[in-house]
Amino acid sequence: MLWIKAFHIISVITWFAALFYLPRLFVYHSMSDDKVSIERFKVMERKLYVGIMMPSFVLASVLGVWMLYDYAWTLHSQQQYWLHTKLLLVVLLVIYHFYCGHLVKVFKSDQNTRSDTFYRWFNEFPALILVAIIILIVVKPF
Ligand code: HEM
Repeated sequence: MLWIKAFHIISVITWFAALFYLPRLFVYHSMSDDKVSIERFKVMERKLYVGIMMPSFVLASVLGVWMLYDYAWTLHSQQQYWLHTKLLLVVLLVIYHFYCGHLVKVFKSDQNTRSDTFYRWFNEFPALILVAIIILIVVKPF
């Protein structure tokens, strides 16, 4: 199980690298007005989402559910709520992940109407989730 945990953490790190970078690309994409830059951002966004963000999400989830099924749910779910709370935050993160996928399509068809300021704030969400999940896992406050 330690190997599973190690690869869970590795895939969570690569998932977050993409969760931080993709909305950053939306910031610059929404500020661009020349065709060359716009087409380049479309390629970068698609490759990042399909090539890194999606496989990392799938691997992190499969390995996480594996540990839950094998020992973690039985071990941590009685009279402790940090694991339930972590899983709830993960659900919010998964919604964010698929919303990013939707935005990749919106940008691909040149339909974006939102400003770079919107994407700058949008970009903060995964950071908040990361801080909350790590505190829950390490401090186990409840
Ligand atoms: C995708 C859905 C996820 C599931 C189903 C899941 C589930 C799990 C489980 C069952 C463990 C083992 C807990 C233990 O041995 O006590 C674990 C460990 C861990 N998870 Fe996740 N997790 C998920 C996503 C995440 C995310 C998004 C993060 C980071 C923000 C994260 C960070 C960690 C870390 C750092 C550990 C090691 C904790 C330790 O050994 O003390 N996981 N995860």
